[in-house]
Amino acid sequence: MHQSKAKITAIGSYVPEHIMTNQYLEKLVDTNDEWIISRTGIVERRIASEHEFTSDIGYNAVLDLMQRYNKAVDDVDMIITCTFTPDFKTPSSANLIQAKLGIKQSGAIDLNAACAGFTYGLHMANALISSGLHKKVLVIGAETLSKVTDYTDRSTCILFGDGGGAMLVEYDEQHPSFISYHLDSEGEKSHNLYCSGLSSSMNEEQLLATEKIVQNGREVYKWAVSSVPKGLNTLLQNANMTLDQIDWFVPHSANLRMIESICERTKFPIDHTLYSLVNYGNTSSATIPLAIDLAVKEDRIKKDDHLVLYGFGGGLTQAGIIIKWAI
Ligand code: UT7
Repeated sequence: MHQSKAKITAIGSYVPEHIMTNQYLEKLVDTNDEWIISRTGIVERRIASEHEFTSDIGYNAVLDLMQRYNKAVDDVDMIITCTFTPDFKTPSSANLIQAKLGIKQSGAIDLNAACAGFTYGLHMANALISSGLHKKVLVIGAETLSKVTDYTDRSTCILFGDGGGAMLVEYDEQHPSFISYHLDSEGEKSHNLYCSGLSSSMNEEQLLATEKIVQNGREVYKWAVSSVPKGLNTLLQNANMTLDQIDWFVPHSANLRMIESICERTKFPIDHTLYSLVNYGNTSSATIPLAIDLAVKEDRIKKDDHLVLYGFGGGLTQAGIIIKWAI
């Protein structure tokens, strides 16, 4: 494994104020609180206002990071915003966040790997810094999924919410955070989870025109619970580590039953798993930083703890990284 020279030095997060409860969803579609909690673990989710977009959420997550860790970001030389719900197709949400923060002379790009976005973003930040090309990278995972959710489809509208998290990654040869990674893509299964774009090639059920998320939940579920444990194994092998050396497992927070099943299959203790879905729902690229930040605020994660971050979903793609928490 290539020697990392990058360290995560700060974290921040933000969720919109408005709460959408399961009881509210009962009024929209044929569902009920008991079904949603027992099948997903989700109790409520946050919803962005009409005029609030991904760049606003990402910007607020960075402000939170700056305030809590007393960090300046004016010398950041790359902004990576992981999202599949950008404000615009172009400019990127990263461009908008750069302007809101007043950062000069920084690269700014959006990265779309859906629910695996944030772990891909951290992996890219590590690569850019460890190669010597960049010194200070902001990685933001932010989504406004409510704007692409079909609130007449009970199989998806109960799942998604809005929110964002951010991490600052800086050059540090002495105390690097990044230990190993594992990436995989199965594009041949992409029709099981998509959000419409310019092509109509997935439009078999006439759903594309809605520009909303379409998901075959059962198929994505089966794929995740079988492929994530295998990927986790590869990730640990790449690091020359075993599961008992991992303090916290942070899988993508899509569904608590899926997380329980992955833990059962890998024999990882569920009480050392961090997730953000109970109060925030599935926020795609934001679930992992939100889960970590909840645990940081509760003082559960300690300096030098080893974390496995494992994103998976639309693509279908997955990205896992092992990091050492250094803050
Ligand atoms: O973040 C990206 C990655 N995405 C995921 O990881 C999502 C993976 N999938 C899932 O989380 C689950 O598949 C869902 C939560 C989406 C669905 O749960 P499930 O246990 O797989 O349900 P199902 O699709 O197998 O449906 C079971 C039953 C069906 O009724 P019948 O056919 O058995 O009569 C559905 O029509 O539950 C019904 N159903 C509902 N009932 C009440 C589906 N949605 C609802 C609902 N309320 N909201």
